[in-house]
Amino acid sequence: MSDFISKIKRTHYCGHLKAVDAGKEVVLMGWVHRRRDHGGVIFVDLRDREGIVQVVFNPEVHAESHQEAHRIRSEFVLALKGTVRKRPEGMENPDLSTGDVEVMANTLEILSEAKTPPFVLDAETDISENIRLKYRYLDLRRPELQRNIILRSRVAAATREYFTSKGFLEVETPMLAKSTPEGARDYLVPSRVNLGTFYALPQSPQTFKQLLMISGFDRYFQIARCFRDEDLRADRQPEFTQIDVEMSFIDEEDIISTMEGLMAHIFKAGTGRDLQIPFPRITYRDAMERYGRDNPDTRFAMELRDVTEIVKDCGFKVFNEVAASGGIVKAVRIEDERRLSRKDIDGLTNFVSDYGAKGLAWARVNADGWTSPIVKFLKAEEVGALTKAMEAREGDLIVFVADNPGIVNDALANLRIHVARKLDLIKPDQLAFTWVVEFPLLEYSDSEKRFVAKHHPFTSPVPEDLPLLDSDPGKARARAYDLVLNGTEIGGGSIRIHRTDVQQKLFQTLGLTPEDTRLKFGFLLDALEFGTPPHGGIAFGFDRLIMIMTGAPSIRDVIAFPKTQKATDAMTDAPSKVSIEQLMELSLKIVQ
Ligand code: AMO
Ligand code: AMP
Repeated sequence: MSDFISKIKRTHYCGHLKAVDAGKEVVLMGWVHRRRDHGGVIFVDLRDREGIVQVVFNPEVHAESHQEAHRIRSEFVLALKGTVRKRPEGMENPDLSTGDVEVMANTLEILSEAKTPPFVLDAETDISENIRLKYRYLDLRRPELQRNIILRSRVAAATREYFTSKGFLEVETPMLAKSTPEGARDYLVPSRVNLGTFYALPQSPQTFKQLLMISGFDRYFQIARCFRDEDLRADRQPEFTQIDVEMSFIDEEDIISTMEGLMAHIFKAGTGRDLQIPFPRITYRDAMERYGRDNPDTRFAMELRDVTEIVKDCGFKVFNEVAASGGIVKAVRIEDERRLSRKDIDGLTNFVSDYGAKGLAWARVNADGWTSPIVKFLKAEEVGALTKAMEAREGDLIVFVADNPGIVNDALANLRIHVARKLDLIKPDQLAFTWVVEFPLLEYSDSEKRFVAKHHPFTSPVPEDLPLLDSDPGKARARAYDLVLNGTEIGGGSIRIHRTDVQQKLFQTLGLTPEDTRLKFGFLLDALEFGTPPHGGIAFGFDRLIMIMTGAPSIRDVIAFPKTQKATDAMTDAPSKVSIEQLMELSLKIVQ
């Protein structure tokens, strides 16, 4: 077999053959996607990473290959020689990029046989994801996943191309590191040489990239692996990849425009599409007000409106009690042209209850007034004022949630997206980028009873807000920005603190004692004192970007070997128990 390979080399990828290749003698190597026996003639769809082409084994063309082709089964690995020809009139397959041609085989070598795969390797496979992940190497053969991984590689190359052309340096930072607090739990790695001590896998290269600025590297980027032990969702993995960036002697505008250039470049490379830059910006406050969250999906309207002022004295007890106790009432207008039925509205009420809402008041706007369970509690002026505030038209549905701002925003933000999907308001190829700016620096954590950093503790406050750290820390604004795409946070960053006194002040506001600060961040505070340039940066979630570019439903579909929802590897069975000897060597004992 190997003999064959050393004598004959592949000339083409299956997926590359086109009508212009007709007449050429080609050598192909690939996997059997499908085999069909048509009484005398055998057809094989041969597959490689670039696509599928139809191969014909005809006894009149080559009796020996035809004979051998009877043995072929799905997923066998073949090498073959043949002549490309245009398919006979009417036999073209428009679903295949190579559908105009076929290869008439005249030599066949079966390089490898295969057991019957546990699932069919088709795009529409509906097999459970756990089985797919257990046989990930087979799942990855599916054309859809091949395309995702190939696009990912192309976009990584385009990223390097862009940064290199702009004078950025690619620098690797340690994997065995000290914990950097990005807010998640660390993955710990015990040290054998220094018993009883642990490295942390980096949650991001944050402190290292800042140190690189202090060292004078000026413009850094890295396609960096990050580790966070947090609860998983469709767009989160415990290990994931960032496009990580840091720049010196710059301000927010420099970062934002450089990153818009990056997005334009990599979207062109990945999808062929031209993006419109600059991207729109929205302040954190406006995002919360109008969309109920700081990662607004701006592909459709349906904005939230605060109507507390209009309803605070109305006759509907729920509304005026909530308003009196410091809560808010917000509403969303749904232009459904009466498509949502009473039953659908009950469904929406159930939906918002998952987010803690105690109910969902609603009103159907008719030419002559409202149909609504609460209209009897409202004065005509109130109905008029609400209709006006919501810019409602005949046939619209208005829904209301009254509660504390957290619940109201969360419920309506999610309802907005749910309804947009239900009413098909989102076009599959829409791309809506938005920068979110003017974040608060800190937020109060009820569970920890202290302020915590909204981004991370190295983010610079807006200079004029510095005094607020003493008087009203929750009000201080950060020099931070997030990039949101279609309602997903794809990146975030900030201008950093480059003065020791400010950094120390911030740690103090976060409730860290001077001893804690020294222990955790002594190296950084020391470094800041040796000549630190003003600097800032950003990091993008590379997997999330690829997920959106490919339209994949999950981040797992764009990572070659992802973890399950339970943070395990279904194929290798990691994490797994280790031997007593390994534990002893590390001086570790499992207590349970
Ligand atoms: P942040 O924590 O916002 O910032 O992370 C940057 C981006 O990384 C992506 N991301 C994730 N993707 C997949 N799985 C995860 N578990 C996950 N967590 C985050 C998101 C996010 O926007 N050091 C700072 C950046 C900086 O300030 O320069 C940082 O890591 O898309
Ligand atoms: P009730 O009088 O409790 O039957 O409520 C009348 C309407 O108000 C129903 O449609 C409820 O879903 C809705 N409702 C109840 N509580 C709230 C709330 N906190 N916010 C918005 N609507 C509510």
